[in-house]
Amino acid sequence: MLKFAIIGCGRISYKHVEALVNNKAEGKLIATCDVVEEKAIEKANEYKSKMNSSDEVHIYTDYKKMIEEIKPDVVTIATESGYHAEIALYCLNKGIHVIVEKPMALSTEDAEKMIKAADKNKVKLCVCHQNRFNPSIQKLRKAIEGNRFGKLVNGTARILWNRNMGYYEQAPWRGTWELDGGTLMNQCIHNIDLLQWMMGGEIETVYAQTGTFLRDIEAEDFGAIIVRFKTGAIGIVEGTACVYPKNLEETLSIFGENGTAVIGGLAVNKVETWRFADGLDSEEEVLKHQAEDPDSVYGFGHTPLFKDMIDAINEDRQPLVSGKEGIKGMNIILAAYKSQKEGIPVKYENFRFRTIDMK
Ligand SMILES: NC(=O)c1ccc[n+]([C@@H]2O[C@H](COP(=O)([O-])OP(=O)(O)OC[C@H]3O[C@@H](n4cnc5c(N)ncnc54)[C@H](O)[C@@H]3O)[C@@H](O)[C@H]2O)c1
Repeated sequence: MLKFAIIGCGRISYKHVEALVNNKAEGKLIATCDVVEEKAIEKANEYKSKMNSSDEVHIYTDYKKMIEEIKPDVVTIATESGYHAEIALYCLNKGIHVIVEKPMALSTEDAEKMIKAADKNKVKLCVCHQNRFNPSIQKLRKAIEGNRFGKLVNGTARILWNRNMGYYEQAPWRGTWELDGGTLMNQCIHNIDLLQWMMGGEIETVYAQTGTFLRDIEAEDFGAIIVRFKTGAIGIVEGTACVYPKNLEETLSIFGENGTAVIGGLAVNKVETWRFADGLDSEEEVLKHQAEDPDSVYGFGHTPLFKDMIDAINEDRQPLVSGKEGIKGMNIILAAYKSQKEGIPVKYENFRFRTIDMK
């Protein structure tokens, strides 16, 4: 039974509680930590009530003290993005496994330090790109691995969402370069991660145009990115927080010589188009067997992601979304920011950038 602690008990942390409850045979929450004590108390109570248990969940406002006193096996970090690297590095260097929310960090250098610290201390680092576990996405990935598309031509990630000023005013860190980034780094990173995972990862150049059109924030509320992969294939990202009056779609489309697939739904959980030359499965059949829509855009993925991390620790292997995987989507966005700043396509080799370089 692995002992877990949650650091950062805000909006997304209920998904961490839910994932622990769903993995209760192998993991147990022993502490919660938030600088606002009431939030840590509320999260501990939420877990106890869902578990129908009176076992103590310790409450902390200082994560260093928590680590010293209760020595968890795994921490999950769900603080503001700008604090992820500092907290993760501290925990990794204390020999603790880490599940960190996306984005894993806000600079290439910090993310690399985290990957190195996990390796050096022989612990696992996992980044919350939970949509990789959606059955629709797993199916698409299998089609890629089975070479069903043939030569890949292009892939498109469209994240056409609405985040109004109320959303940004709820938490002042959102939309700032120091603690968040814009809609590309906060909302679109999931689909950008999926796009690069499907298209083959290795990148030649990134070109972007971004802007702050409708929201009174420091960072972008719209971004268009063109990614040239080393294979020659092209990735296109259209990401926005400005769609009137509510979320319209999140889709991932992949186009190859012998196949076309589009994944959509509330949280890229539904196959919308599935056409392949090999005739292995018909579009009609595939469309019939769809996963249900989740209750929010966060989807169902935290539970299998936590399960994969538990298995990775027990089997001493890398989790599916390790630090080395998590850095990829983040770096595409940092390269997009650099491209916007310099007005030219960014050569990917040895590239380094930080969100605060946009200030
Ligand atoms: N995977 C997803 O789908 C998903 C969805 C939403 C948010 N997120 C990510 O989760 C993170 C948190 O987002 P949120 O919307 O829950 O934010 P939030 O502002 O609601 O919560 C952050 C919490 O962290 C606490 N905190 C800050 N510093 C701390 C520290 N040193 N120790 C302990 N607690 C501290 C704050 O008091 C706050 O309660 C962000 O990185 C965000 O990008 C991921």
